[in-house]
Amino acid sequence: MMKKLEQLRKIATDDISRANDSKTIEDLEIKYFGKKSELSEILKSIVSLSNDEKREIGPAVNSLKLELFSFIENKKNEILKSELEIKMKKEYIDPTIDLKNEKIGHLHPATQLRYRLEDIFKSMGFVIYDGPQIETDFFNFEALNIPKNHPARDMQDTFYVKDDVVLRTHTSNCQVRALKELGVSLKAVVPGRVFRNEASDATHEHTFNQIECIVVDENISIANLISTVDGFVKKIFGDNVKIRLRPGYFPFVEPGFELDISCLVCGGKKCPACKHTGWLELGGTGMIHPNVLKSADIDSSHYSGFAFGFGIDRMMMQKYKIEDIRWSMSGDLRFVNQF
Ligand code: DAH
Repeated sequence: MMKKLEQLRKIATDDISRANDSKTIEDLEIKYFGKKSELSEILKSIVSLSNDEKREIGPAVNSLKLELFSFIENKKNEILKSELEIKMKKEYIDPTIDLKNEKIGHLHPATQLRYRLEDIFKSMGFVIYDGPQIETDFFNFEALNIPKNHPARDMQDTFYVKDDVVLRTHTSNCQVRALKELGVSLKAVVPGRVFRNEASDATHEHTFNQIECIVVDENISIANLISTVDGFVKKIFGDNVKIRLRPGYFPFVEPGFELDISCLVCGGKKCPACKHTGWLELGGTGMIHPNVLKSADIDSSHYSGFAFGFGIDRMMMQKYKIEDIRWSMSGDLRFVNQF
């Protein structure tokens, strides 16, 4: 029996000293101290021994048990400690890092302006409407009183996806969509991206942002148009800015206008920024053409409305005095980090 104990001590200590992860050491704990372990069998068998044998074997088994137990405990602590160290190194977070010096991204100035415009129009009771950038010929042109082969299509050459599907050339594509979906009375603005087949230069890009406004109700007149535009322009550019309407042609409005604001640089006194005119062009506007209302199944003898479409990038350029629109899409951090 003593020989058996000696063998067990040797095998167990060898096994335990070789272990180097917590799973192995747990298995060894079961192997040497579990209910079915050799040690437990030996302990059980002591009852059947003679008193002399008991006196000799009993203390020897106990001391082996204590010895192995403290050996395995030490080994286990050692392994857990080193595993914890590895884990801490891998998952280390430095709570003292000064985040103030970290560069965090921010919104592009055109997006900032778009959000500001949305807030202003929401405060004036408008809903924000969104529509597709890939659009059918019908909503982009046909429904807006621009039939196939109409010369006005030349002003808005675009990217054709298929014969009848284009990248929208303007946010006006949502005029009939919004009217059909939301019905009258309607006060909606549609901010978003538009596309043109342009040779780009300082004032033209193939991709830019517009904001469209559509108001249709009973008794809507040009006076409503002027007060709405005047109200939001003053909120964006300040109370001193004046607006003016010039006759302009757009097939989906009648009468149609070009809308200008007084030059932000010289305040109307004429300077190089406004090409010595005192005015800057913001976009087009007018009273919605009866044919457009008809495309949306709205009775034009009962309802009337106005619409405008202004370039958000153009407003951004004027607000921040940016001289070349190509900066906007350049992805150049020297540009965006100024805002
Ligand atoms: N969609 C026109 C463009 O992109 C701008 C425009 C003109 C929009 C007159 C309108 C409008 O709503 O009434 O050139």
